Amino acid sequence: MDFAFDTTPRCVFREGAAEAMGALVAPVLPHGPILVVTDRTLRDLGLPDPALASLAKAGYEAVVFDAVTPDPPAPMIERAAALARERDVGGVLAIGGGSVIDTAKLAAHLALSDRPLGDIYGVNRCTGPRLPLVCVPTTGGTGSEMTPISVVTKSDTEKMGVSDPVLMPDMAVLDPRLSVSLPADHTAATGVDAMVHAIEAYTSALRKNPVSDALALEALRLLSATIHRAVAAPEDIAARGAMLLGSMLAGKAFANAPCAAVHALAYPLGARFHLPHGLSNALLLPAILRFNRSAAEADYARLGEVIFGRAGADALIEGAARLGPDLGLPTQLSAVGIGENDLPVMARDAMAQTRLLQNNPRPVGEADALAIYRDAF
Ligand SMILES: [Fe+2]
Repeated sequence: MDFAFDTTPRCVFREGAAEAMGALVAPVLPHGPILVVTDRTLRDLGLPDPALASLAKAGYEAVVFDAVTPDPPAPMIERAAALARERDVGGVLAIGGGSVIDTAKLAAHLALSDRPLGDIYGVNRCTGPRLPLVCVPTTGGTGSEMTPISVVTKSDTEKMGVSDPVLMPDMAVLDPRLSVSLPADHTAATGVDAMVHAIEAYTSALRKNPVSDALALEALRLLSATIHRAVAAPEDIAARGAMLLGSMLAGKAFANAPCAAVHALAYPLGARFHLPHGLSNALLLPAILRFNRSAAEADYARLGEVIFGRAGADALIEGAARLGPDLGLPTQLSAVGIGENDLPVMARDAMAQTRLLQNNPRPVGEADALAIYRDAF
């Protein structure tokens, strides 16, 4: 056995943590100006307000960047970094979903770097430090608060990852109250994303390790026991807390046993058709489990038992196929505006995701990707 395990060093889980944000972040963020990264929807909902009030009271000057858009485009991320530089902030705080956190992670690094974002796509391409960084997730899905990865929309058709130890946040603050306003469809899609993180970590080909395995199993136990309740009863704080905890554990798992073909094949759906990331994963999960089965039989059997209470790869594959419809999500690519003629170019695009594809338990070529898209169509 040979593995290393890295994670965000500090995690605070507390209902109402937002109201104590100023004191909670004090060991990490120097007092003075800090960049607070969020998005317009959350700002209009007033979601960051309790944290902003607490930060102000504790002596922080929040420089708010609320222009984050889903599937964060590279120029937007560079604008966030430019604002951090202009205002000479001493740290970065993200309050939001995966797009917000991914933007904040890169802004914290780019603010101190003279290299453009275009130079650092891929694995271990960053040079130099980043600003102190705290991430506060508002969805039970991304797990990005625990990973050294940010995903960027590089062009009109391409999403690319930046994976580098420097992007690992210093601290995560999980407050279940911050996710109660998440609509049902987003709760379902981001929850399935978290489950896919844990499933892909558990079967990761290159860096599967016992710590990630343990975290992935616990994440799946929590997420599968809770996701239906979180979707049906949005104000259920216990369910929201379990989803946040599950997605955080899954994030720790896949930060060290990276994701694979579900994510690789999902990226073209986000880049070309602007489908939400979690929904893209949910649409592809059953077809990829069927494709991988011959190479992952034993692991899938264990996951079937943990997630659906019945041992066997069949239990996992059948249960995963029921998950989308049970949660009210679309289940076929043809139902979300994708045409059959789009599939070949998506398969070609997916081949660029070598960072992810190399972790798949079964090799995926372009013809395989096309067959998977057809299966999911
Ligand atoms: Fe994901």
